[in-house]
Amino acid sequence: MIDPNIKMTRRSFLGTVGTLTSVMLLPPRRLPAAENRFLLRPIPSSGERLPVMGMGTSRTFDVQGDAAAMEQLAQVLAAFFDNGGRLIDSSPMYGSAESVIGKLLGSKQGKSSLFAATKVWTDGRAAGIAQMERSMQRLGVDVIDLMQIHNLRDWKTHLPVLREWKQKGRIRYIGITTSHGRDHEALAQVLRTETLDFVQFSYNIADRAAEEQLLPLAADHGVAVLINRPFQRGSLFQKTRGRGLPAWSTEFDCNSWAQFFLKFIIAHPDVTCVIPATSKVKHMTDNMAAGVGSLPDADLRRRMVTHVASL
Ligand SMILES: NC(=O)c1ccc[n+]([C@@H]2O[C@H](COP(=O)([O-])OP(=O)(O)OC[C@H]3O[C@@H](n4cnc5c(N)ncnc54)[C@H](OP(=O)(O)O)[C@@H]3O)[C@@H](O)[C@H]2O)c1
Repeated sequence: MIDPNIKMTRRSFLGTVGTLTSVMLLPPRRLPAAENRFLLRPIPSSGERLPVMGMGTSRTFDVQGDAAAMEQLAQVLAAFFDNGGRLIDSSPMYGSAESVIGKLLGSKQGKSSLFAATKVWTDGRAAGIAQMERSMQRLGVDVIDLMQIHNLRDWKTHLPVLREWKQKGRIRYIGITTSHGRDHEALAQVLRTETLDFVQFSYNIADRAAEEQLLPLAADHGVAVLINRPFQRGSLFQKTRGRGLPAWSTEFDCNSWAQFFLKFIIAHPDVTCVIPATSKVKHMTDNMAAGVGSLPDADLRRRMVTHVASL
C-alpha cells in the first residue's frame, strides 16, 4: 500500500514549479495502479516508515544557471514524487544541488512529503553550524529530516552539535556517511560507540564489502541504512550494455538492469533505503519501479552475484 502520509501528487508538485510551465503539459509517469505498491521500511529509532527508494543528487543536481537542465530536473523530481519517493540526499559538497532542490520544490505545499537529508562537510564547530544554517536556507526548509556527517569529517566536533539541534527540533535524525572501503573500520567503531539514527555507505552487486561488518552492525545497533553508489556511479551499466536480462529475472518482477541492481540491494534485510542519482526522467521511472513488486530471495541474490561476475 502507498503510505497515507505521502501527500505529494504530480499536480501539487508541479504546481510549485511555477515558471516551468512546459513541465505541466507532459503526461503522468505514474506506474500502473496495480503495480504501485511501494515498499516501505521502518527507521529503527522511531518506527517511521520510509519508501525504500530515495534519490541522490551528487553531480546530477549541480546545474544552477542552466535553465534547460533545471526544467529537466523538475520533471525528474515530479517522477520521483509521483511514484511515491520521499527521501532526497544532498550535501554542501555537491555544488549547487541543495539550492537547485530548494528552488524546484518551491512552496511549502510542494514539500509536504519531502524527507530532506543533507550533510555537514567542514571542520570546526562554528563552520559546521554556519554550513547547516546555509543548507536549511538553500533547501528552503525549517527542519532537516536527516543531518549526516559527510565522510566522517570532524565527526567528534559535529556530533554533539547535531544532538543539540535534534533536541531543539531543528533536525529529526542524525547520521554519518562514507563511500570508501578504507573508512569502514572507523565507521564500524562509530556505530559501536555512538547512538545514531542513520548510517550511509556504498553497497552494490559488484562491491559487497559492507556485508562483512557494516550491515550486520547497523542491524545490531538499530541504525537505519542508506545505500549510496548503487550503480557504482553508473559503471555497472558498462558491464551489461548490449546484454539481455537472464530469463529468471521475471521471478522477482525485474524488467531492466537498473531494477536488477536496485532489487539486489533492497532485498538485503538490513537496508532501509537506496539513493540512486539520475538526471533523466526515464531512468527515474525505471528506478522507482524497483521499489514495487517482489524481491529476490537469498538463493536468487547469490545467483545474481554469480551472473554479474561472469559478464
Ligand atoms: N560519502 C557520501 O556521503 C556519498 C558518497 C557517494 C554518493 N553519495 C550519495 O549517493 C548518491 C548515489 O551515488 P552516485 O550518484 O555516486 O552514483 P550512482 O547512483 O551509483 O550512479 C549514478 C549514475 O547512474 C546513472 N543512472 C541512474 N539511473 C539509471 C538507469 N535507470 N539506467 C541507466 N543509468 C542510470 C546516472 O546517469 P543518468 O543521469 O544518465 O541517469 C548516473 O551517471 C549520490 O548522488 C549522493 O547523494 C554519498
